[in-house]
Amino acid sequence: MKPINIGLLGLGTVGGGTVSVLKRNAGEITRRAGREIQIRAASARDLERARICDTEGIQLTTRSFDIVNDPDIDIIVELIGGISPAKELVLAALDNGKHVVTANKALIALHGNEIFAKAREKGLMVAFEAAVAGGIPIIKAIREGLAGNTVEWLAGIINGTCNFILTEMREKGRDFADVLSEAQALGYAEADPTFDVEGIDAAHKLTILASIAFGIPLQFDKVYVEGITGITAMDVAYAEALGYRIKLLGIARRAPEGIELRVHPTLIPERRLIANVNGVMNAVLVKGDAVGPTLYYGAGAGAEPTASSVVADIIDVVRTLTSDPENRVPHLAFQPGAIAEMAILPITEVETAYYLRLSAADQPGVLADVTRILANRGISIEAILQKEPPPGESQLPVILLTHKVRERELNAAIALIEALPTIGGPVKRIRMETLG
Ligand code: NDP
Ligand code: HSE
Repeated sequence: MKPINIGLLGLGTVGGGTVSVLKRNAGEITRRAGREIQIRAASARDLERARICDTEGIQLTTRSFDIVNDPDIDIIVELIGGISPAKELVLAALDNGKHVVTANKALIALHGNEIFAKAREKGLMVAFEAAVAGGIPIIKAIREGLAGNTVEWLAGIINGTCNFILTEMREKGRDFADVLSEAQALGYAEADPTFDVEGIDAAHKLTILASIAFGIPLQFDKVYVEGITGITAMDVAYAEALGYRIKLLGIARRAPEGIELRVHPTLIPERRLIANVNGVMNAVLVKGDAVGPTLYYGAGAGAEPTASSVVADIIDVVRTLTSDPENRVPHLAFQPGAIAEMAILPITEVETAYYLRLSAADQPGVLADVTRILANRGISIEAILQKEPPPGESQLPVILLTHKVRERELNAAIALIEALPTIGGPVKRIRMETLG
């Protein structure tokens, strides 16, 4: 089948990440989409500037409208940001019969009603997963996964830059301006970082979330917005002393009288999961009437996390161009003809770390025997904890944490440990994953 041609507008943080992900995962993406996806052309302002991605094989230009008017291009991916010329480019792309993928929350929040009307008129898709919470597929989760619910409220940490600043202030006592400069260098901040720290970017995202959660028009001008520039290190420390964390939250709630839409710094009890979302990570809590509270967590900004959402949208669009309309999303995510036979590992071949609990006689040399058995099998120990024997008992509990080991090796070591006369009963094993 003929490849799909992409025209990329913008080759900065997200554009660069998108090129890298599309190139690196080309094989896997083709299996998912059902046909090859090629980046035909890309635009930027300065073609001499060094890029974070490999642009070989891509026609580069400063003339974005040439890409939008190129009849060989099927999908326009707008990653320039801001309103103009992004809006004109997106509308021209739709006029030319091209589907659009964008990460531009300002554009969708302010002009989405007009853009979607044009797309409907032309029978085209405008996909914008990357516009909210970077790499978290929150749009898909609300639009598809929670489609059976009445959404009661949602609350989110939806600006990575602010969360990064607040986290660094709390954990390291760093200065606001210094952390903001780092967020800019890391590519998290908007072109105008006041959009981040004054809460405007979060309000753009909240506008979009509220619209898909409640079925209301996009209405950015109705959002209450307060940023984090007034938050001092002292506030952060006092909140912490009282058992709270300060987070910039975007909150949308269905109240009896209407919908609440607000962005502001918020104290959250530190025991709440969302209070422990740190750095550039984002999280969105959505309360549906049927499902109850659900939490979505992941990187909210940065080149490849955001590209993850952009590329997912591109694949969605390609699937609609490729698949039988009654079966646009393949049941198993991959195209049926591309399901691959791959070996499934037996548990004995799996490598993981372990928590081991054993019951040992309270006498010299017992631990030395155990650690020797593990060492002889190449199993290294991360931590040992020896507890007092329970009242009236002579055996004491010993807890060992191991580094990663193949389960087959651990089974052999456990058999030897259980055979020691000083060990009472079976060794308790729980697998550990750092999930890092
Ligand atoms: P960057 O500033 O890093 O990149 C913007 C790109 O657009 C640059 O390549 C720039 O060219 C190009 N560009 C700017 N103006 C023009 C123009 N008039 N014609 C052609 N090209 C132009 O921005 P980001 O990648 O960070 O952001 C892109 C979009 O993604 C924005 O809408 C942003 O809100 C959104 N977003 C960003 C995230 C992030 O983590 N950064 C996360 C989620 C969404 P040149 O490089 O030559 O200057
Ligand atoms: N500037 C935004 C942030 C980028 O910091 O969250 C992701 O939308």
